[in-house]
Amino acid sequence: MDLTYTITRLDPGDFDLCGALWDIERRADLASRFRRELLEGNRTTFLCRDGEAPLGEVSLVRYTDDPDYTVENRRLYVSRLLVRRDVRRRGIGRALLRTAFETARAWGYAELSVGVNLDNFAALKLYWEEGFDSILYIGEDGDGRFVKLLKRLGKLEGL
Ligand SMILES: CC(C)(COP(=O)(O)OP(=O)(O)OC[C@H]1O[C@@H](n2cnc3c(N)ncnc32)[C@H](O)[C@@H]1OP(=O)(O)O)[C@@H](O)C(=O)NCCC(=O)NCCS
Repeated sequence: MDLTYTITRLDPGDFDLCGALWDIERRADLASRFRRELLEGNRTTFLCRDGEAPLGEVSLVRYTDDPDYTVENRRLYVSRLLVRRDVRRRGIGRALLRTAFETARAWGYAELSVGVNLDNFAALKLYWEEGFDSILYIGEDGDGRFVKLLKRLGKLEGL
């Protein structure tokens, strides 16, 4: 199957499109926080689409209550990278991350953070390959053991 896709910034009013990727009804608390952050401008979400059909998403978050994840004007948090199951392993996750990197650089940020469950090999490998090479913290929450990783955003090549 040919896959042609575009990645664009999600208009907060189009938040319901994310419902094609995860269950907004069943995860009502998360959905309402997500929507509020989008409307406040704290969350910027990038959506990958084939035509109208959403294939994946990732967000950048400016402020969290966790000083490992966000530092004002320096470090943004990469949130909810997700690719629709039937189109995984075709480069969309990497493309979404790289869009987030370009945006964070353009905004003048120097670092990105992410939290990943330690049993999520696919995501750990992708983040490692994309430059998340420092461990900020290893711990455990209700979802199991996880790691917080840091990426330093270098300057764009050629600049
Ligand atoms: C993690 C996730 C976003 C990756 O998206 P994707 O579009 O499949 O990723 P890509 O096709 O861009 O893969 C990039 C690289 O990641 C690694 N990777 C991705 N899936 C993998 C898998 N199942 N097994 C091993 N490595 C994998 C590979 O190194 C891959 O490069 P390669 O295909 O050239 O070998 C996707 O699996 C997903 O949505 N998982 C569920 C949600 C999730 O766990 N999100 C992360 C939360 S922290």
